[in-house]
Amino acid sequence: MNTQPSARLGNVLLAVAGGIAAYKIPELVRLLRRAGHSVRCVLTEAAGEFVSPLVLQTLSGAPVRSSLFDAGEEGEISHIELADWADLVVVAPATADRMAKLAQGLADDLVSTVLLATRAPVLLAPAMNVNMWSHPATRANAELLRERGVHFEGPEAGELACGWEGEGRMSEPVTLAGRVTLLLGGETWKGVRVLVSAGGTREPIDAVRSITNRSSGKMGFAVAEEAARRGAEVVLVAGPCPLPTPPGVRRIDIETALEMAAAVEQEFEASQVVVMAAAVADFRPAEASALKIKKEDLAPGAGLQIELVATPDILKGICGHKGDRVVVGFAAESHDVVEAARRKLARKGCDLLVANDISRTDAGFDTDTNAVMFVSPGGEVEELPLLPKIEVAGRILDRVEKLRKGTR
Ligand code: PMT
Repeated sequence: MNTQPSARLGNVLLAVAGGIAAYKIPELVRLLRRAGHSVRCVLTEAAGEFVSPLVLQTLSGAPVRSSLFDAGEEGEISHIELADWADLVVVAPATADRMAKLAQGLADDLVSTVLLATRAPVLLAPAMNVNMWSHPATRANAELLRERGVHFEGPEAGELACGWEGEGRMSEPVTLAGRVTLLLGGETWKGVRVLVSAGGTREPIDAVRSITNRSSGKMGFAVAEEAARRGAEVVLVAGPCPLPTPPGVRRIDIETALEMAAAVEQEFEASQVVVMAAAVADFRPAEASALKIKKEDLAPGAGLQIELVATPDILKGICGHKGDRVVVGFAAESHDVVEAARRKLARKGCDLLVANDISRTDAGFDTDTNAVMFVSPGGEVEELPLLPKIEVAGRILDRVEKLRKGTR
């Protein structure tokens, strides 16, 4: 089983600055190493107050440096050698002070000196108080750095450690690791058009009621995000859900299964890869009342007949004329997962079925993690461990890549 992303592996120099978000850096190191990158950490003096150098050394498998003037450290690998070694320098968390230093070209400690000396691309993951981030000085520094080609990931909006709410949170390690892979690997999916469906559909009964399901859209949005990060042109057909549109993704909002079918058919022709993660309603009310159905005429316990009719099977429909496209379906199963998934794959005719066991509380609907199995047309099964949905998305795209190359 190959679990490595297909992007080029590289040397990542992680410059850790002194901010509370530094506590997330061990997880970032772990993810980068797991993706196959070599990682070395350099710390500012303040960073050591927030994260243990020993932890970073253990996880990176390489000595950690923090002083420019330590003869022992400098003798082992000089700051210029470090700057030259890097294929990418990541500053995380990037504090307002670090951004200002880099913008002004200061070189008064190890991190600032390495940043000035390196020829490698630089990725900043800002993290600071919302007012510091929106201060005109920080805005100007960010602008200047962007103009010079420095990459940014985040900051994101949310609750901040300082108690304020707003833009200033460091992006999650999984997001940063994905960006690193993209920057190092280049846009490996450039020129590929990926169509993703996500979320549940909502089938109206009357003016206020509907039939729907518990799909949050998280799984499909993760696939769209990951495909865009790899440089694909991504179209996301999304059922009603409040998730933000991933960067670089074109989103088409729909409500019903019929609307989803129309949107998928419309976008299918120009796509090379289709991933149907949506939980499409299999039935819809034959007729939706334009007015609210009144309850007052009904005695308690009285029945109300709603005639349901089958919706089109979108996945089966597109697989009937899929040509050389790679089409991936999902299956939400509560028992006999493998057998049910094999039967579903045969019925739908897709190239890969991603089956989730929805009897688990940490997988399937409305969770941040998922535990899936890949089921192939030959009946082979690959079981993945419990992973964040963004990582599951990466594994799916890795598999799609192999299917496109005909190596799986
Ligand atoms: O959105 P989340 O909260 O993150 O949850 C993710 C998920 C559990 C919804 C997702 O991982 C998943 O399993 N999606 C498919 C759920 C489902 O409806 O399975 P199904 O067995 O009913 O459908 C099988 C496949 O056919 C799916 O690819 C579905 O998109 C497709 N289908 C189903 C019915 C239909 N009328 N048309 C379809 O195209």
